Amino acid sequence: MKPVALITGAAGLIGGYLVRSASRWVPDWEVRGLTRTEVDLTDRAQMQRCWERHRPDLVIHCAALSRTGLCEQDPARARLINVEATRSLADLARDVPFAFLSTDQVFDGAKGHYVETDAVHPLNVYGQTKVEAEQAVLENPAHAVVRIALTAGTSPTRDRSFVEDMLRAAAKGMTPTLFTDEFRCPMPAGALVRALWEFAVQRRPGVYHVGGHERLSRWEIGELLAARFPELRGSIRPGSVADYQGPPRPPDLSMRSDKMQALLSFRLPGFRQWLTDGSSDGVDPWDYSSEVIR
Ligand SMILES: NC(=O)c1ccc[n+]([C@@H]2O[C@H](COP(=O)([O-])OP(=O)(O)OC[C@H]3O[C@@H](n4cnc5c(N)ncnc54)[C@H](OP(=O)(O)O)[C@@H]3O)[C@@H](O)[C@H]2O)c1
Repeated sequence: MKPVALITGAAGLIGGYLVRSASRWVPDWEVRGLTRTEVDLTDRAQMQRCWERHRPDLVIHCAALSRTGLCEQDPARARLINVEATRSLADLARDVPFAFLSTDQVFDGAKGHYVETDAVHPLNVYGQTKVEAEQAVLENPAHAVVRIALTAGTSPTRDRSFVEDMLRAAAKGMTPTLFTDEFRCPMPAGALVRALWEFAVQRRPGVYHVGGHERLSRWEIGELLAARFPELRGSIRPGSVADYQGPPRPPDLSMRSDKMQALLSFRLPGFRQWLTDGSSDGVDPWDYSSEVIR
């Protein structure tokens, strides 16, 4: 019998890629994706029954309220799923490897090039809930926190990734401003989940960063995407975060992923390189129905 890996948030962007890519990256594992239809992770009794049904040998916990705006609107809801459900699940998983997906938004963005030992200082509710959840997860010395960067890809519901957000805005005739002075290390979902699978089956505890190896401004990311998606041309405009009126935004969330990179069999891609090379084998990495996950 194969060992069982349980993926929460399987109807989301990254959980979806993890499940779809499993036969390629972890063929010796039986991978089961959990969606909200099977279990509401904020309901402890449901979660307990679900745990007993699956009895997994490994958990990758992706379920979350991942939209920063929704977390600001409803901090209690954000805390329930992002912190309390994570704490309960980590407790059920106390005897098995557990990888919790966290975020670059645990940092305030003042420094950039963040490493795992840098002090956290979130500027928003989403980041605060992730910091609290990280602390709960790390109470178990066998468990892992993986902070991931802005992730590009196609979600099962077509409305989760930042690329899908941009395409939807363009379709509505909106022209979002992309800041030339706000930086990220974007990552394609296909490469991210390959890294997550390679990492998870090694059962390594502690904190890890995974981002693309290129630090790009939001505007640079938009320009690169506009070269790939003609419908974005003319629908984005550059701006400075200095002119932005609204809640505080972390300016530079670039992360160093050397610690994770040392464990992987492949080089984490840069976003520019991945977009450029992506078409070389004729597989469209944005095609959700594609059998080949990049
Ligand atoms: N995507 C990124 O760029 C990015 C960057 C940094 C960190 N992360 C983190 O990586 C993880 C995965 O992100 P993602 O982009 O895949 O998120 P996502 O697309 O929003 O997926 C999250 C999933 O969690 C599910 N969920 C929420 N509450 C639940 C509940 N009470 N019970 C069961 N399922 C529930 C959602 O179900 P519904 O669809 O029914 O709501 C959704 O399918 C998250 O922890 C996120 O914070 C993501």
